[in-house]
Amino acid sequence: MHKQPDMPMDYDSLSSIYNEFRTGSLEIIEFITRTLDISSETSILDIGCGTGNHTLLLKQKSDATMIGVDVSWGMISKALAKSRSDEIEFAQALAEYLPFADSSFDLVLMIEVIHHLQDASQAIKDSFRVTRPGGRVCIVTQSHRQIEERTTSIFFPATVEIEKARYPTIVAIEKMLKKAGFSQVQSEITVFKINIDHEFLETVSRKGFSVLHLIDESEFNKGLIKLKKALAMNGEFESVLGYTFIFGMKERFVTV
Ligand SMILES: C[S@@+](CC[C@H](N)C(=O)[O-])C[C@H]1O[C@@H](n2cnc3c(N)ncnc32)[C@H](O)[C@@H]1O
Repeated sequence: MHKQPDMPMDYDSLSSIYNEFRTGSLEIIEFITRTLDISSETSILDIGCGTGNHTLLLKQKSDATMIGVDVSWGMISKALAKSRSDEIEFAQALAEYLPFADSSFDLVLMIEVIHHLQDASQAIKDSFRVTRPGGRVCIVTQSHRQIEERTTSIFFPATVEIEKARYPTIVAIEKMLKKAGFSQVQSEITVFKINIDHEFLETVSRKGFSVLHLIDESEFNKGLIKLKKALAMNGEFESVLGYTFIFGMKERFVTV
């Protein structure tokens, strides 16, 4: 039996594996800094920041004022341990009910978070509230096609339907953004190269991707053997990983 996709994950337990094996993607951060005007004057809220990998990378790249929030204290405590004191604020908070005043941030980010949320629509509504007029939202996720094309989907085919049930479609996210009040909603598709190497194998072996906790143990073991064989036969190989970036803006003036 697969675990139900709507069953909440134990993020506190996952936080040690995430901290050890998941790294931030420089490509994701560079795409954001290339697309949006971010400087040391920009205030950014990173919702569902996990152990702070992307929060820290974005801070290093831009020197923006960063706050990261996550529902899991396990994740937040690891983010705090990695960040130098006062460099970035991290706090435990729910995406759906953000503990910030209206119009607090120039940019609200959610990187690989939307599929984890119990109520994505409420989280987007609250993101709109805390975005200042003229500010932006950026949601980084994967389309159902990009899920099908993942390397893990080839080795663990049982993950595909589970992920499609977890991930809202891009059209659904765009609709939620517009309904919340964001305008200029647009999506950009990216493809980044990744290395399938022993580090990737280690991440998979330790179930560093949350969906690997949702498939049968027998499916997981089958996939792991296939991946080990592929690496033993071919050595390390290159693959691709696609992401979709969905942007929106909170207009300064609302016309009636
Ligand atoms: C896949 S991780 C992404 C972490 C980080 N954004 C990154 O890119 O490295 C998803 C994160 O969402 C957090 N999360 C899940 N539901 C949440 C909620 N309702 N409010 C805030 N964070 C949540 C989890 O604790 C987890 O750290």
